[in-house]
Amino acid sequence: MRKVKKAIIPAAGLGTRFLPATKAMPKEMLPIVDKPTIQYIVEEAVASGIEDIIIVTGKGKRSIEDHFDHAFELENNLFSKGKFDLLDEVRRSSNVEIHYIRQKEAKGLGHAVWCARNFIGNEPFAVLLGDDIVQSEVPCIRQLVEQYEQVEKSVIGVQTVPSEQTHRYGVVAPLEKFGRLHEVSYFVEKPPAGQAPSNLAIMGRYVLTPEIFSYLELQEEGAGGEIQLTDAIQKLNESQGVYAYDFEGTRYDVGEKLGFIMTTLDFALQYEELRNPLLQGMEHILEREQLGKINR
Ligand code: G1P
Repeated sequence: MRKVKKAIIPAAGLGTRFLPATKAMPKEMLPIVDKPTIQYIVEEAVASGIEDIIIVTGKGKRSIEDHFDHAFELENNLFSKGKFDLLDEVRRSSNVEIHYIRQKEAKGLGHAVWCARNFIGNEPFAVLLGDDIVQSEVPCIRQLVEQYEQVEKSVIGVQTVPSEQTHRYGVVAPLEKFGRLHEVSYFVEKPPAGQAPSNLAIMGRYVLTPEIFSYLELQEEGAGGEIQLTDAIQKLNESQGVYAYDFEGTRYDVGEKLGFIMTTLDFALQYEELRNPLLQGMEHILEREQLGKINR
């Protein structure tokens, strides 16, 4: 069996939902508390046994490369001041082998993945999207790799979303279910509201066989005029079968403002030194809002 050792992290998006913050800074560098979102993704891949990562970047994304590089001046400074905890943190982000390739045109997720085809070659590989952070006992992409090792077919991470949200996602039409693993009749990208075949939505985690590239190669436009990964997955499903896996864990949507703020609050509560002052601060805000309601 071919092992899953490589991962693609697409990070070429324009970040329009976070303008003006993302005018000169990649959205992948926006921090949740004190760590850029893309570092959570890289850490998940590494904790899942991935050995080689390729990040697909675009214009104005150089700070991502700097972030995962050594920072000698900063490291020396922290060392001389004896700030060893911070030094460990800073070094942690430069201890992985990361490669970069540029997507020269913004043609969609399917195109971004296709840009990394030469790096992947003829092996199964993982894709992790930066808009979704997953907290789980077994890292999310590890769960999918374990399923891949059983079925030797592509496995797509899904979770249930409320019906009013299905139009924002790739959605699965499930067939037979084996525990958390579903056979799939078809995959559809962003079905119109009320027309989704189920509530099982694709959550930015994929293990794919390299045959996907023969479909991405066709560069056919799908929903929103973009080359959609979901469309190529459906073609792969027709030729060799693709499974959907309802992974365990809490998924955070950091790709839009409200999700980003909620994630920041939830993650900050996990920091010992922030938890109590944050809870107090939140109580104050709630009281003020309640009072405001009464006085209005
Ligand atoms: C992408 C995928 C979609 C998936 C979603 C998950 O959409 O195309 O299938 O459900 O990520 O976050 P995007 O959010 O980039 O429009």
